Amino acid sequence: MTQTHSLTASDLERLQEAAKFVLAKLDQNLSRFTELFPAPASEGLVYPAIVNEDWTASFYTGMLWLAYELTGEVRYREAAECQLPSYKRRVEERIAIQTHDLGFLYSLSAVASYRVTGGKEARDMALKAAELLAERYFPAAGIIQAWGDLDDPEQCGRMIIDCLMNLPLLYWASEETDDARYADMARSHVKQSAAYLVRPDHTSYHTYYMDVLSGAPKYGNTHQGYADDSCWARGQAWGIYGFMLSYAYTKDESLIGVSKSLADYFLSRLPEDGIVYWDLIFTEGIEQERDSSAAAIACCGLLELAKQLPVDDPDKQHYYNAALSMLSSLAKRYTTKDYPHSNGVLMHAVYNKPRGMGIDECTIWGDYFYFEALARLMTDWRLYW
Ligand code: GLY
Repeated sequence: MTQTHSLTASDLERLQEAAKFVLAKLDQNLSRFTELFPAPASEGLVYPAIVNEDWTASFYTGMLWLAYELTGEVRYREAAECQLPSYKRRVEERIAIQTHDLGFLYSLSAVASYRVTGGKEARDMALKAAELLAERYFPAAGIIQAWGDLDDPEQCGRMIIDCLMNLPLLYWASEETDDARYADMARSHVKQSAAYLVRPDHTSYHTYYMDVLSGAPKYGNTHQGYADDSCWARGQAWGIYGFMLSYAYTKDESLIGVSKSLADYFLSRLPEDGIVYWDLIFTEGIEQERDSSAAAIACCGLLELAKQLPVDDPDKQHYYNAALSMLSSLAKRYTTKDYPHSNGVLMHAVYNKPRGMGIDECTIWGDYFYFEALARLMTDWRLYW
């Protein structure tokens, strides 16, 4: 199935309108974010400008690459390229690199740049980032530690579902260098994620601790969800998409089954307008916030499922339609179109409710995945992941 086969002319027109809105927001931001980046979440729907030290810088850079690819307009490419030195500095001077989010950071900036323009400097910095990410791997446990110093007792051996999105940097590094070490780590991590982060009822833990010496599983808990035994909506969305990204590299069929099971649970928890609450424990009518960013990530995951499933799979069209319907709801009800002062795109996201951060705001990854989903539907976009 090519990406556009199921689109009617009016669907396509609506998607083009939605993409135009994102491009207009980027134009509004071009002079504000050059060496500085949007903060992870807006404040009063406006992103403050921050240095490249958080986990989220690359979502803005990735949007610039998407904009360049969609329009061919050089100003977007120049804006993306003007940010690359800060990624180079970060990886060379080891600034705020004690995180698995090196995958997010370098896939959407340096790998994207290399894929779009073939620039060697971008390739080199992405390979350095992959090396730093590989330092976080614990062989006995077969996992990459998510956060903090490797000897921090609170974080030691903790894997989190978000990390699935960081594995493509490792697969890519193996393809580029012919060194299987990186992909072997990613393969092991994705298997451990399927075994321990996904529960038998197809919900997911946000985080899970492994004993890094014996490799034994310890216990799961949450960081951003409602409760240790609930299902954080964005985590489930990272899982839907992340398992499929590993499938794209490994062709391990079992990963399709895992992604499907997470997708089916996610879709079974949608309220009427199709946009999930921030934790899937909540359903229609509850006084809790939505997380539009979880919906945008899930759209991309569902579209990847629809792309990879064989033509005779009965769910192929179902996932495509579900993504299209969620995306239409986001475009219709969740953008900042009535808030011209906002420099964000998608409102009604939640960053970290338990810690009171970015509640009912725009999030820069929500904006990125919304734009990626539009690009996926309108073009034969080649992944940066
Ligand atoms: N990866 C962090 C988050 O989703 O908030």
